Amino acid sequence: MSANEYIPIRVSTLRGDLKIPFDAYVKVASKHILFCRQGDSFEGDRLVRLKKKKLKKMYILPEHEEPYRRYISESIEAAFDNNSDKSIEDRAAVIQGAQQAAAEDVMENPEDQHSYHLAKKGSAKYVEFILNNSEATKSILAIKNADNDLAHHGVTVSTLALGIAKELGVVESQPQLLDQLILGSLLHDFDHYHSGIPYSLPLQEMTDEQRVIYLAHPQSGVDRLKNLQHFDQLVLKIILQHEELINGSGFANKMLEKDLDPLVLTVSTANAFDRYITFQNVPVKDALKTMLIEKMGLYPLAQMKALQLALKNQGVITS
Ligand SMILES: [Fe+2]
Ligand SMILES: [Fe+2]
Repeated sequence: MSANEYIPIRVSTLRGDLKIPFDAYVKVASKHILFCRQGDSFEGDRLVRLKKKKLKKMYILPEHEEPYRRYISESIEAAFDNNSDKSIEDRAAVIQGAQQAAAEDVMENPEDQHSYHLAKKGSAKYVEFILNNSEATKSILAIKNADNDLAHHGVTVSTLALGIAKELGVVESQPQLLDQLILGSLLHDFDHYHSGIPYSLPLQEMTDEQRVIYLAHPQSGVDRLKNLQHFDQLVLKIILQHEELINGSGFANKMLEKDLDPLVLTVSTANAFDRYITFQNVPVKDALKTMLIEKMGLYPLAQMKALQLALKNQGVITS
């Protein structure tokens, strides 16, 4: 089999306890090596090992493409089924992976309308999963983003944003925008996917050149998407404005609170919080405290209080 006949698949789609009906290969120095055999599963430390290696793609043989597609759709369907006999942790793992893969698909090929619509549909289902299962938020947030993955960060931000939105009454007042809130959160750092800068570093640890790229990422993100008609307005607004701060000291356009959409501020608040817990390894409770003190006057107090309440009500923190 020549190297270019193998079909790439996303590691993020390989979650859960189902046995895989295909052989999965890794590519090492242009050679494909069998990593997980047909009939095995991706449970346990297998995924952790892959994540630690920051491996995003694996490979399958062309004759296994059909069983692979079936495996993906069956595991996602079973995970979204509220009558499922699977544990909420297993369901959350599959759904988290599906959302991560959907974000990666759109970020890799934003011009592909089909991927965008699939991601939007998945986001609507995600809203239902989170709102209808009391342990869902906790289970999703318990999945560690070991390699500071950008799409995983997007899934975490989307989950926190939905929690805040729920506390602020948005589920009742703007239910039609919740799928866009999720999708915008998944894609908010779209520019980092292409610029390749070390986005998880604190600003002061970046080189001058990296800092310039970082401070432009919201604007560069929407610039990369111009002329694409299928992106929703709120999704674009989230990408452009998620680093703005209410006192005008944010970037890329130093906007003020009165000009910012509250839904965008929800994503900004969730994003700042996940930068603490994922990129700086600050424990959840300390991150809340730090944010309330260090970021005072930068995010609306109502959004921060809603975040605190959401974490409490979803059982992520106890007091
Ligand atoms: Fe950002
Ligand atoms: Fe971010």
